[in-house]
Amino acid sequence: MSNYAEIQALAPAAEPERQYYFIEVCRRKVQEESRRLGRPLTFCVTTFGCQMNARDSEKLAGILEQAGYQPAEAETADFIIYNTCTVRENANLKVYGHLGLLKHRKKERPGLRIALCGCMMQEPEVIEKLKKSYRFVDLIFGTHNIFKFAELLAESLECGGQIIDIWKGTDQIVEDLPVERKYSFKSGVNIMFGCNNFCSYCIVPYVRGRERSRRPEDILKEIRTLAADGVTEIMLLGQNVNSYGKTLEEPLSFAELLKKVEEIEGIRRIRFMTSHPKDLSDELIEAMKASKKICRHLHLPLQSGSTRILKAMNRRYTKEQYLELAGKIRREIPDISLTTDIIVGFPGETEEDFLDTLDVVRQVRYDNAYTFIYSKRTGTPAAAMEDQVPPEVTKDRFDRLLALVQEQAKEQTARFAGTVQEVLAEEVNDHKPGYLTGRMSNNLLVHFPGDASRIGEYLTVRLEECKGFYYMGTVITSS
Ligand code: 5AD
Ligand code: SF4
Repeated sequence: MSNYAEIQALAPAAEPERQYYFIEVCRRKVQEESRRLGRPLTFCVTTFGCQMNARDSEKLAGILEQAGYQPAEAETADFIIYNTCTVRENANLKVYGHLGLLKHRKKERPGLRIALCGCMMQEPEVIEKLKKSYRFVDLIFGTHNIFKFAELLAESLECGGQIIDIWKGTDQIVEDLPVERKYSFKSGVNIMFGCNNFCSYCIVPYVRGRERSRRPEDILKEIRTLAADGVTEIMLLGQNVNSYGKTLEEPLSFAELLKKVEEIEGIRRIRFMTSHPKDLSDELIEAMKASKKICRHLHLPLQSGSTRILKAMNRRYTKEQYLELAGKIRREIPDISLTTDIIVGFPGETEEDFLDTLDVVRQVRYDNAYTFIYSKRTGTPAAAMEDQVPPEVTKDRFDRLLALVQEQAKEQTARFAGTVQEVLAEEVNDHKPGYLTGRMSNNLLVHFPGDASRIGEYLTVRLEECKGFYYMGTVITSS
């Protein structure tokens, strides 16, 4: 038996014990290498895409640190891993750009190890391309087997060569793996994985698989542990949090889960992402309204304001239904900040459809909107639709939408000028020495004088000057 076959034969079958066993295997290998080089080995995780990926990256970092790697910048790291996104073509192009640069670096430093994971790896064409033209990448895995990272890393360290392991799907959710949080005071918490919505433009259901909810007791246990470790703000993560719990053995609604999270001592702020308008219940609005901890922010992707396009997108709501929902939320929770995602140039979008989108933006008055040019994703129903909109038409609409969105966001931001708000100090301001950047409950950023020792504190801040999309403020008291 080869050395690695022996290691594998001794591994426990159950998770997460199996991964802890492989972390130990990695640890021995990393120690050996580090002794040989006379210095510690280092790693760098680069993340593309959404909050979900950011959380996954914290899990990758947790495993690498336990295996004995130390964090470093990408330029000097011995192990570089890209956690990729594929929601738009641009995200893929960025990764190939980075790989182009790494090819040279690896020639200069053959000891450098490169890994790729995340959503883009679930696309068969990507894997073909990597196999053919990017042989220098050591380890490639996908979204479904990320919990096996330690095992794959051990194989890579022991055996070398290019390792590719992509699963088509999984119903497994492995709990209690190590995590290295980016912030000491706030954390994402996965409540569900995958997506069942199949919006016709979206690749996510194909790369993240079917919807699976984590058991409430596992979620609550994780949050209690985080709270005990000093975390005061949590962001509940899922592609469509409003359909949480439907597939559990004992179904529980998202609003019910929120109420349970609310009871956890030490947690002061609760955020969540992302809400699908079709599933947003009155029960949730009530829960938000009654809560002292749920933040005054709701991200409610519109995608298009045209009922005809919404139908082609398979969004399952109309322009009128969306407007009614947004109106109800604004009425019930007046200080809420509403943000959205909008796609311009979906196949078949006419000027009239686009004017409907502008109309919704005007009526809802978003506090912020993320605008995207439609990107054709192979394998999605929209990619096969005729009538793709010419790029120059899309670009013109995009510019008009962006101008409106920015104008409204500025006006919406300005409505808090002069008020006193609770702000969580999050980081040192990179641009202005002696300043910190904090976040209000409604997700607006405030910059104010302060030093690093206050990071993680809740401060009472007066919003002195509105600077468009953010504020300059002064601290009144800490709470
Ligand atoms: N083209 C452009 N934007 C897209 N999004 C998802 N798929 C596409 C696509 N094919 C946007 C949606 C979604 C956000 C995360 O990305 O607006 O809400
Ligand atoms: Fe990108 Fe979607 Fe994957 Fe998030 S889930 S990284 S947005 S493709």
